Amino acid sequence: MGRIVWQDYMSIDQGVIDSDHKKLFKYLSDLEDILAAGQGKEAIQKVVDDLVGYTNEHFDREDVLWEQNGADNADLRDHRAKHQRLRDMVKAYIYAASQDAVQVGHNLHTFLSNWLLHHIVHEDAGMARKIGITAQKK
Ligand SMILES: [Fe+2]
Ligand SMILES: [Fe+2]
Repeated sequence: MGRIVWQDYMSIDQGVIDSDHKKLFKYLSDLEDILAAGQGKEAIQKVVDDLVGYTNEHFDREDVLWEQNGADNADLRDHRAKHQRLRDMVKAYIYAASQDAVQVGHNLHTFLSNWLLHHIVHEDAGMARKIGITAQKK
């Protein structure tokens, strides 16, 4: 997958979450730039750490937002499980990073770009619609 660029259709009309998503894309771009520049293991691991740390922060923030805005329990459980599954998969990539940081950086970039794009456009947007955030804001 090539560079992931923010576009308006990706907005879920929720400023905090949209800006988190934009920041996640920025970390993915940084990772892509570092890989393209042929930088070493340390530089790759630094941006991967930042990306993973921010992903975790974002999931926590988002889960609280859904809960505080009246998402029903089944939806909350389901969405949290998706976030947790991603955390587990990313951990597996990071574990492999001790073997070949460049390859892992490429794999993680492709995997996370696809996952995030799909999750934002379908699952985050679906949650936002369900809890009526969009309707309340306008
Ligand atoms: Fe999200
Ligand atoms: Fe989410």
